[in-house]
Amino acid sequence: MKILGIESSCDETAVAVVTGDREILADLVLSQTDSHALYGGVVPEVAARAHMQHITQLTRKAMAEAGLKGFQELDAVAVTAGPGLIGGVMVGAMMAKAIAAVHDLPVYGINHLEGHALTPRLVADVPFPYLLLLASGGHSQIVAVKAVGAYQCLGTTQDDALGEAFDKTAKLLGFGYPGGPAVEKAAAACADLEKARQDFPLPAPMVGRPGCDFSFSGLKTAVRRHVEEHAQMDAADKAALCASFQESVRQVLYDRMTNAARRFYGLFPEAKNPHLVAAGGVAANQMLRGALAAVAAENRFQLTVPPARLCTDNAAMIAWAAAERIAAGKPPDGLDFRVVPRWPLEALL
Ligand code: KG4
Ligand code: ZN
Repeated sequence: MKILGIESSCDETAVAVVTGDREILADLVLSQTDSHALYGGVVPEVAARAHMQHITQLTRKAMAEAGLKGFQELDAVAVTAGPGLIGGVMVGAMMAKAIAAVHDLPVYGINHLEGHALTPRLVADVPFPYLLLLASGGHSQIVAVKAVGAYQCLGTTQDDALGEAFDKTAKLLGFGYPGGPAVEKAAAACADLEKARQDFPLPAPMVGRPGCDFSFSGLKTAVRRHVEEHAQMDAADKAALCASFQESVRQVLYDRMTNAARRFYGLFPEAKNPHLVAAGGVAANQMLRGALAAVAAENRFQLTVPPARLCTDNAAMIAWAAAERIAAGKPPDGLDFRVVPRWPLEALL
């Protein structure tokens, strides 16, 4: 079974072909980073136009890379139907609907978050139920994944997403967009974490509180205050501030995920050595991986983190989510399926 996947909900135009047995035949991602760098963030209108400009060629290229001569060789078409920047989502959805209509193929309007949530099963044998940390530019959620279409949110952010906190910190330090990788790289240059914490003290919001929710806006504000107080920050100061920022995030993740691990065993008392998985762009971060490794080791979970290119936005995860839906016996969507800017995981069937 071969499925074409299309993703255009943010600033990556992506097209992939994935098989029902986890083979990735093509996986193309065209990043618009340069178009948005000028503005320090994603501009929805710019994104939609860029998707429109590139999606046809990228689809042709993905089909060729997958060794397919025509769309009739596909078994299904999958596309992100939300949540996301609606102009971009519409571009992808129209492309998918056109292909499906002309070639009489079933079409699946996939929830972008479900794509992230099921990605670990594309790369490893991860049985249900498992515990998921989804951390991206738009979302920070801790989810119990019970089955395809059955997701229970254990915690979410009360304000900013974790990726957003990285991006805003980077912007304050003049690192440009996307900020996550730049902040991680700068932090790696700091040799003395203890001194960094003293020079640039930062809060670790929510640590010690019950539950699994996040809050990152206070951390962002504290970073801004440091930047305002230090008129001239050299590279070493920036490295120290980034290291201190990451240390706060590490403490938050460790605390929140420890609570989530306990909650998970409460929900699934018979779970034996279940999987703890990470997804979303921030899962590419080594500090995050370290925090999760500690939680997994202390709570008898097996840690699975997909390779970085499958953690950030891609279309293989969208095609794979459709493969999972097909295997679970879920029906395709009609050609009249709607696209939506907001679509919580828990609303899925
Ligand atoms: O999942 P994703 O590609 O797009 C969204 O759906 O948001 O996530 C992008 C986010 C950005 O905020 C980016 O700064 C962050 O993931 N990110 C990172 C790293 N790589 C990407 N954050 C921290 N460390 C990284 N290495
Ligand atoms: Zn995403």
